[in-house]
Amino acid sequence: MTSTSTALSTTLVHPATGDGPWWRDAVVYQVYPRSFADSDGDGMGDLPGITAHLPHLAALGVDAVWISPFYPSPQHDAGYDVADYCDIEPTFGTLDDADTLLAEAKRLGLRVLVDLVPNHTSWDHAWFRAALAAGPGSPERARYIFREGKGPDGGEPPNNWLSTFGGTAWTRVTEPDGTPGQWYLHLFDDSQPDLDWTNPEVHAEFAAILRFWLDRGVDGFRIDVAHGMVKADGLPDTVTVHENLDPTHHLGPMWDQEGVHEIYREWRRILNGYDGERAMVAEAWVADPRRMARYVRPDEVHQSFNFGFLTALWDANAQRTAITDSLLAMDDVGATTTWVLSNHDVVRHASRLGLAVPGTFGPGIGADDPQPDQALGLRRARAASLMMLALPGSAYVYQGEELGLPEHTTLDDDERQDPVWERTGHTQKGRDGCRVPLPWSADAPAYGFSPTGASWLTQPEVFGELAADRQVGVPGSTFELYREALALRRELGLGGGSLAWADDLCDDTTLAFVNGDVLVVTNLGSAPMAVPGGFEVLASSVDASAAEVPAEATVWFRPAARA
Ligand code: NOJ
Repeated sequence: MTSTSTALSTTLVHPATGDGPWWRDAVVYQVYPRSFADSDGDGMGDLPGITAHLPHLAALGVDAVWISPFYPSPQHDAGYDVADYCDIEPTFGTLDDADTLLAEAKRLGLRVLVDLVPNHTSWDHAWFRAALAAGPGSPERARYIFREGKGPDGGEPPNNWLSTFGGTAWTRVTEPDGTPGQWYLHLFDDSQPDLDWTNPEVHAEFAAILRFWLDRGVDGFRIDVAHGMVKADGLPDTVTVHENLDPTHHLGPMWDQEGVHEIYREWRRILNGYDGERAMVAEAWVADPRRMARYVRPDEVHQSFNFGFLTALWDANAQRTAITDSLLAMDDVGATTTWVLSNHDVVRHASRLGLAVPGTFGPGIGADDPQPDQALGLRRARAASLMMLALPGSAYVYQGEELGLPEHTTLDDDERQDPVWERTGHTQKGRDGCRVPLPWSADAPAYGFSPTGASWLTQPEVFGELAADRQVGVPGSTFELYREALALRRELGLGGGSLAWADDLCDDTTLAFVNGDVLVVTNLGSAPMAVPGGFEVLASSVDASAAEVPAEATVWFRPAARA
């Protein structure tokens, strides 16, 4: 067989890395526990529900599962407000259920990452309750960021920082003697007080939490708000109001501070003390890939989500730049690049890509907003996913994207639970639309999500035709597209492979690269594009022949076998 790379004029960006630790080329599936599968019928997903459906994930062909928080929590931010890091929220199950889940995953050959939320606790955490009771100047308060207010009676917040969810980032407490007192910092909801990572007690506590889960057998951690745990000395005002709010360019004195790296070095030393290639992935919204690369230096975390790729619009040049820049930056520090298109915080890509300006996302979509073109969104989502799964590195898949699920864009406002909705005075819809419970079977109540038909958010009607049982084993379905791509990716070693742009095929509407013997072409334009002779189709997001790539589609080619 002729090597594809010699048949086309190419520019190498990233050389093959071959085999390495599992996480370097892993495809990781994100499970959002409350919406994955409900075993007991209360309308809220749970750990036994996850365990029961792990075979679906093994059949899909992913390598690992990342489970969003399942810890005891008042659920003001869907579990990202943790009241106890070493137990399970009763609605989700018990520690025994967690052990069963880990054992079943192991049996099926799936690794498990759990979510660690170290920037803040819940206001129901024992530490925060003790801090409120103990009063100003106490060691209990020193675990959080309490400050005196400004103004003659301390009635103004200590600085001008805003909460990512809307409104001020400070809340004033009532002291034990009943007087208005200090303020505490919360970069998110007021139910999520920020910890003070300059306090050694906080370090010791999280080291113990890491060990608790590592000892239980988890393969690693996804680290929430990994770029926000350390704040600039003196908590200086932000210069511009939106400095800390633009989700794609988190800048300012609360983000990406030098001190966070010492925490990751400390945690890396802990993970290195365990066998089994345990790993960490950082949720660090850092726009500059070179800044992001600093999180994945050899003695820090193993991976960082590539939000530059997620936020690149449906634009060949923007995507090419995002891919090239992230590969070069990660290669510089010897790290693997990650690819991600959807998660529980952003509009699902099957809807995002069907918007008038495809790829944009922001405050969520409601019934009174312009609606995405669902068919076009799905067609583009399939193309984007097939392209992503051919890229070298590791990929993250958000539950339901393997079914091509759209965002719920007409959810009733009364159902919204994301704190963003209330904190922005109902000006931002928030993230509930991407968190709707999964459809497992078209004809069952709640599309098979729960045995009783209860569902904590109403599912849109289109979930019926997209249910898993309508797709598994059905040629051409989105599920089968993912399954086929994952199998080929594994068989051909694409995750540990190379990336070279196919120069003659790339233009303003085409992305074309070679990984090993595979030529991957994504046509982002609205007309078919011709492909040189000598190739045959290996996989495609729509029906395709060897002669051309249809509009809004991705095709994987390999050199045609000689007659
Ligand atoms: C990032 C999580 O992904 C998001 O869901 C959460 O609201 C914030 N961090 C705060 O924990």
